[in-house]
Amino acid sequence: CGIVGYVGSDSAKEKIINGLKSLEYRGYDSAGIALDINGKIEVRKQVGGISNLEKIIDDDSFDSGVGIGHTRWATHGAPSTVNAHPHINMDGSIAVVHNGIIENYTEIKERLIAEHGIEFRSETDTEVIAQLIGVLYEGDLYEAVTKAVSQMRGAYAVAAMAADEPDKLVAVRKDAPLIAGIGKGCNFIASDIPALLKYVREIYLIENNETLVVTKDDIKIFDEDGNRVKRDVFHVTWDADAAEKGGYEHFMLKEIHEQPKGLEDTLNKRLKDGNIINLDGINMTKKDIEGFNKVYIVACGTAYHAGLVGKAAIEKMARIPVEVDVASEFRYRDPFVDESTLFIAISQSGETLDTLAALREAKSKGARILSVVNVVGSSVARESDDVFYTWAGPEISVASTKAYTTQLMCMYLLALYMGKEKGTIDGTYYAKVIEELKTIPEKLQHILDKEGDIEKLADIFYKREQVFFIGRGPDSGVAYEGSLKLKEISYINSFAIAAGELKHGTIALIEDDTLVIALATQDALFEKMVSNVEEIKARGARVIAIAKEGNTEIEKKADIVIYIPQCMDELTPLLSVVPLQLFAYFVAKNRGCNIDKPKNLAKSVTVE
Ligand code: G6P
Repeated sequence: CGIVGYVGSDSAKEKIINGLKSLEYRGYDSAGIALDINGKIEVRKQVGGISNLEKIIDDDSFDSGVGIGHTRWATHGAPSTVNAHPHINMDGSIAVVHNGIIENYTEIKERLIAEHGIEFRSETDTEVIAQLIGVLYEGDLYEAVTKAVSQMRGAYAVAAMAADEPDKLVAVRKDAPLIAGIGKGCNFIASDIPALLKYVREIYLIENNETLVVTKDDIKIFDEDGNRVKRDVFHVTWDADAAEKGGYEHFMLKEIHEQPKGLEDTLNKRLKDGNIINLDGINMTKKDIEGFNKVYIVACGTAYHAGLVGKAAIEKMARIPVEVDVASEFRYRDPFVDESTLFIAISQSGETLDTLAALREAKSKGARILSVVNVVGSSVARESDDVFYTWAGPEISVASTKAYTTQLMCMYLLALYMGKEKGTIDGTYYAKVIEELKTIPEKLQHILDKEGDIEKLADIFYKREQVFFIGRGPDSGVAYEGSLKLKEISYINSFAIAAGELKHGTIALIEDDTLVIALATQDALFEKMVSNVEEIKARGARVIAIAKEGNTEIEKKADIVIYIPQCMDELTPLLSVVPLQLFAYFVAKNRGCNIDKPKNLAKSVTVE
């Protein structure tokens, strides 16, 4: 979900709507806005995207200088107009928007009904916040919000306004992102930076359990005990265009094309004197590295798939055993984590609640926490001992592309650094990998230049209802990512499996004309993959293979071969994923899917 609030003298409606549009990727089953109009709060909300909301707010009389808005991705209560935010209290004098979940909302709700006779209109936990603040309000919104929060359990960012204090917004954060934007003669609140990029560059990052009181001339931050907090201004360097489509039909395609730059930036930030990795700002001595007896990589979704490739790299280069786990599983089985464990959290947004919770669990067990994160100042970044930032820039499309490849780049650099410090790789190998990494952006561009070929394949296969992805070694990690890309944006039932495992069950599903995408980029495993392709061809499969230029042997077996430029086996995931991203994109486009905002998904999942 996304939150935007504005206090100033201009049109709050315009600012909020523009802000919400840039946050729409966070959630989009409904949207709403509350404005203070002549001392009265007016709320309008609608099911669907922001464009649906715009249709019901285009009258000039519906505007003012103060308001809050929200895009919702349903957790409690189905997507509907009544469940959309903002929510108001009984007499409509308080309006609230909220990201997150209030765990004890049923208990509070029952109490409000029993003790105050409150009649609820929606099924949401957010209405409970609005009603609770309403009951506690005695003329000071900050006081009422503070009291309400002391009764609430869960994770949330809440923004509230009161009809009796029309010049003010109050917002509070606990485990869900919240920022304040510093304008000229106006101020903003938001859940995320892209919402404000059009208007402000200077922001305050709000910490957990802090409350914001925002007027047009002032932003006050208070800690849990009501003390004023002094916060440094954070200057945002992302340019506003980075959050716009810039001529591309979809953010996803734009972001696929931004990968050479993202990789180059991520690499260059970490190279000193051309070929020495510097982990400046990351506290990891030779002694630390030698002391790690285990690495845990924990993440969700695409970031988890980056972890699979990271495992192969760290194990090969640094010779430390690595476990990769999905964050939602990690915590619940008393993982083997102690002071000698390096825990790596990978997260584009840095706000995924499962990842954050896993990080805290590992921290409480004494692990060293390193995170690979894209969003500067995000919760994962702030709670880690060290952060290895990806330099992908803002990723808007729900389906992650450039975040994935830049995460891979970080994992390679880390593996290489650790290997060199530990002495498990020699100087020649180190130099060779660095030189190869430098060539990757150009090679990736080479694949993009031939995207028309992939588009043609998508034209042939877009009506399929089932696709399999197979690969061995690092290719199997890429197979999982390719399959996820396809299913999440095209709704095709796709399935990835390690190629050697196929014959132990899944091959039963291969029949005449079944489409299989076989990654065969590993020289060391090439022959094995060729046999796997033979196996499935014998069952009638149609096979698209991904192979390195020059490995033409596969042409004899596969129906179609997509070539990627030559590179070391270890590094092929940086390239081989690109045709799969493009394939998913063009298939989804042919199927008329909502590519940047697939159904049921959100960019950043801040609920467990
Ligand atoms: C959501 C997104 C995925 C993403 C995952 C992890 O499910 O839809 O694209 O990979 O969250 O997000 P993170 O921000 O932690 O990388």
